Amino acid sequence: MPITTCIFDAYGTLFDVAAAARQAAGEPQFPHLQDNWADLASHWRLKQLQYTWLRAITGAHADFWDVTQDGLDWAMEAAGLDGDAALRQRLLDLYWELQAYPEVPAMLKALKDAGMNTAILSNGSPAMLDGAVQSAGLGSVLDDVLSVESAGIFKPDSRVYDLVGKRFGCAKDYVLFVSSNGWDAAGAAGYGFVTAWVNRAGEPVDRLPWKPAHILPDLTSIPDLARS
Ligand code: LAC
Repeated sequence: MPITTCIFDAYGTLFDVAAAARQAAGEPQFPHLQDNWADLASHWRLKQLQYTWLRAITGAHADFWDVTQDGLDWAMEAAGLDGDAALRQRLLDLYWELQAYPEVPAMLKALKDAGMNTAILSNGSPAMLDGAVQSAGLGSVLDDVLSVESAGIFKPDSRVYDLVGKRFGCAKDYVLFVSSNGWDAAGAAGYGFVTAWVNRAGEPVDRLPWKPAHILPDLTSIPDLARS
């Protein structure tokens, strides 16, 4: 089937989620972060995602901004940094202006030039996503930004992936879904999208019943893949 619509996960896929801790570690007021920013970023991300899955399974939805703060609080306590209110605030502020990976603007522009629909489909709240899209300057190369808040549950619930067909009116096999999260790529493949897993870190494939159709080192080849 020809791909007409390219849908991107946001955090970790278009936006570098480690950038907030990395940047804060380089600022003079947080010298104590220099040695452990990578562990802090990784624990923050892991807890944030675990909380989305647990909240989805139990029906206890909260928006992604609450879950992001809860994950950070866990990670800061684990690192012995709880009580550092200035660091907490700085990391949260930086999360609203995460950097996009360098290849993202040209990749999205190439998709738009090829006549594709482009959108984000993310756990992020509309306000968080708006902040990230604006600060990365991606507004003109995205047709829409779809948030799970319209479905009231996190990925990989199928009601989230349903938002794509509702918005673009396309069948599942006309959609290329791109995520750096192995579990999200697996969930989207199980749903019926053509999926590309962006595996920047060279991680093993998730042991789940659904596999991504494509595994890529970064986003550079997405326009060629979508047109092939
Ligand atoms: C998102 C998370 C999963 O953007 O990274 O949906």
